[in-house]
Amino acid sequence: MTHAMTQPTPATVAPDALLDVRHLCVDIRTPGGALRVVRDVCLTVARGEAVGLVGESGSGKSMTAFSVMNLFPSPLAHVAAGEIHLEGQRLNLLSAEAMRAVRGARMGMVFQDPTSYLDPLMPVGRQIAETLQAHRFGDDHQARVLELLDLMELPHAAQVARKYPHELSGGMRQRILIACALAMRPALLIADEPTTALDVTVQSGILKLLSRLRRELDLGLLLITHDLAVVAETCQRVYVMYAGEIVEHQHALDLFAAPRHPYTQGLLRSILHPRSRALDLFSIPGGVPIAGHWPSGCRFHPRCPMAQPGICDADAPALVPVGAAHGPGADRCLRADDPQARDAWSQPACTVALP
Ligand SMILES: Nc1ncnc2c1ncn2[C@@H]1O[C@H](COP(=O)(O)OP(=O)(O)OP(=O)(O)O)[C@@H](O)[C@H]1O
Ligand code: SF4
Ligand SMILES: [Mg+2]
Repeated sequence: MTHAMTQPTPATVAPDALLDVRHLCVDIRTPGGALRVVRDVCLTVARGEAVGLVGESGSGKSMTAFSVMNLFPSPLAHVAAGEIHLEGQRLNLLSAEAMRAVRGARMGMVFQDPTSYLDPLMPVGRQIAETLQAHRFGDDHQARVLELLDLMELPHAAQVARKYPHELSGGMRQRILIACALAMRPALLIADEPTTALDVTVQSGILKLLSRLRRELDLGLLLITHDLAVVAETCQRVYVMYAGEIVEHQHALDLFAAPRHPYTQGLLRSILHPRSRALDLFSIPGGVPIAGHWPSGCRFHPRCPMAQPGICDADAPALVPVGAAHGPGADRCLRADDPQARDAWSQPACTVALP
C-alpha cells in the first residue's frame, strides 16, 4: 500500500452536465493566512436530476453552494481553485455584472429561513414581481406572479399575492421563496436546507413540491441537507461531505443499500426508524472538526471505528477512489475495498425500549 496523497484527477468535462464543479477549493482570509474550508470538491448535476449534498454541520455544504452562486456571506470567503461550469459556461471567470445576470435567471437558490430573505414590509406578490423586473421578464408581471403562485400549489393566488410575509405560514413563505427563485425559469435550483426549519408534515409537502417542479420543469436540483431521510425522499444521486471534502458519491439506491465510507454508514445508522420497536440512539462519536483544525491523514480518522493507527492518520494516506463511474474525489477511504469496512459500525447499537 502506498501512502502518497491521491493526485487530483485531471479536470474532465461531464458532457451532459448542467452543473459541473471540478476540483473546487474555497478559502477564507484570516489574519493568520488563508483557511481552506472546501478542498477538491467535484460534483455534477444533470438537467431534470435531483442530487443530494449531505453531511453534518460544518462539513462545507453551504460554502460549496455559495461558490456556485458566487454569493458568499462574507467578503473574506472566495473560490481559491477549481472550475464551475453551468450549461458549459465557466462561471468563475465571469465579471461581477455578468454573474448577477446568471444568478436568478439561469440558477436560483433557496435557503433554510425564508423570513430572512423576504421583505417584511412588502406584499409577497410584489417581491416576486421585483425579481421579474430585475431580470426584465416580458411585460405581464402580474400574470407571471399568479402563474408562479399556482405552480407553488398556493390556492387563491390573487389573495396570497397581496399578503405580507407575516400573514403566511412558514411552509407558504418557503413556497414564495421558491417562486422567486424559479421566476425566470432557471435551469438549476440550489436548495440549502429548505425544510430544516419546518415541521415534518410541511417538510414533506415542500419536498414533494420540489420533486414535481424538477420533473415538470426539467430542473436540475442540488439539495443540501444534513438529513439522509430528506435525500431518500427526493434525490437520485448523493454526495456525502465531511470536513470540507466529498467522501462518497453514489446513486441514492446504492448508497442506502451499501454505503461504502464509514462516515456514510454512521450517518445512515443515525436515522431513526419510527416503525421499529426500539429507539436506536446511535450517533457518530465526536463532531466535525472546525476548519483549520483538520486532523492529519484521513480527516475522519479520530471518529472512525475502522481507523488503523499509523496508516489512516499518516500525513498523506492513499485514499482510494471508488472508481471512474463515480467520478473523481469519491470515497476518500483507504479501506474502501476492505470487506470489513462494509459494516464499520458492527458493534451492537445502544437500544432503549419504547414506553
Ligand atoms: N466567516 C467564516 N470564518 C471562518 N470559518 C468559517 C466562516 N464561515 C464558515 N466557516 C467554516 O467553514 C466550514 C464550512 O462551513 P459551512 O457553512 O459550509 O458548513 P455546512 O456544511 O453548510 O454546515 P451547516 O449544516 O451548519 O449549515 C466550517 O468549518 C465553518 O466553521
Ligand atoms: S481512511 Fe481509515 S480512518 Fe478514514 S474512513 Fe477509511 S478506515 Fe476510517
Ligand atoms: Mg450550511
